[in-house]
Amino acid sequence: VSGGSGSDIPLFDVGASYAAIADGAQEALARLGPRGAFSLGEDMERFEAEFAAWCGAEHCVGLSDGTVALQLALEALGVGPGDEVVTTPNTFVATVEAIAAAGATPVLADVDPESRCLDPAALEAALGPVTAAVIPVHLYGRPAPMQAISEICTEAGAAVVEDACQAHGARLDDKRAGTFGAAGAFSFYPTKNLGALGDGGAIVTGSGTLAAAVRSLRHHGADGGDANTHLRRGGTHRLDNLQAAFLRLKLERLDEDNRGRRAAAAGYRERLADLPLTLPPEDPPGGEQVYHLFVVEVDDRDRVIAELRAAGIGAAIHYPTPIHLQPAWTQLGAPGDFPDSERLAQRIISLPLFPTITEDQIDRVAEALRDALAG
Ligand SMILES: Cc1ncc(COP(=O)(O)O)c(C=O)c1O
Repeated sequence: VSGGSGSDIPLFDVGASYAAIADGAQEALARLGPRGAFSLGEDMERFEAEFAAWCGAEHCVGLSDGTVALQLALEALGVGPGDEVVTTPNTFVATVEAIAAAGATPVLADVDPESRCLDPAALEAALGPVTAAVIPVHLYGRPAPMQAISEICTEAGAAVVEDACQAHGARLDDKRAGTFGAAGAFSFYPTKNLGALGDGGAIVTGSGTLAAAVRSLRHHGADGGDANTHLRRGGTHRLDNLQAAFLRLKLERLDEDNRGRRAAAAGYRERLADLPLTLPPEDPPGGEQVYHLFVVEVDDRDRVIAELRAAGIGAAIHYPTPIHLQPAWTQLGAPGDFPDSERLAQRIISLPLFPTITEDQIDRVAEALRDALAG
């Protein structure tokens, strides 16, 4: 659900994020264009090394988008037809699309209403004899409870693939999102904390074997140096070299951008503290969230969001319909099967948040919310 780019205060400000790298982006195009360096080039390799180092991972493989990143991570792990993969109904639909695209069967387990992420107890109940993998989603930029999830998965012999598409830089102790499981999948969709000027994605992993398999899958199953031998059934899933050049410029600013997001979130917490709403959970102990979104919960949500929008606030809902209630995915559950996800979907509102949001804009959003809740 879009936050209305025509709003006075937009949900995201992708234009401002572009402006910060505009000169460098023009230079990159001028440098790469005449050389025709558009596919599998040096900038992609450099970006992979830089993003791996930034995440604290051994390897990174640049891909076309986050959905493909999840899919290829599963495929490289050998997950496919006959296997089940557990994730939550409170996520973007891409998480289950990727499972199905790998040929496996998605199985849903409810979220913990406080963390809004996969509930370890629900995960345990969802495991079965053919569970091959689990995809915890670090939703809204807050790390899922990885210690409990990892212990359960180790015990069950299930691989962990993290959906870190909203969580570039989120941290638990000294480990960043994407580095807890066998692989972590990232999206570089323009609104993400690290956003390309178009689509992009990547996996990070500690395994050289897994990285090599994903490299092969992204390029028609080619065998390293030999582009004419196809070892696997792959496809066209590469990160563009030009997008990688843009992402390298954005990556230089990512720590500062995430600090800006955290400062904005602190500003909202201060201003909203006395209102009748539920704030997002605080940072997990020893960890840090990166506020891809700032999501509050309110009663009478539809009226409140309508009033915010009428006041020019680009508020949105992530996501209004849990996966099992989406027309395409009704086979994954019936109404009432995942009550915590269903309840959240009826109560949540994402407020405008981006690195360059001003104190004045935060004041105006908070005031509009105060008025809406009073009405
Ligand atoms: C939680 C989550 N998973 C997966 C994706 C898929 O990423 P992409 O849009 O790059 O395919 C997204 C972003 O859109 C996301 O937010």
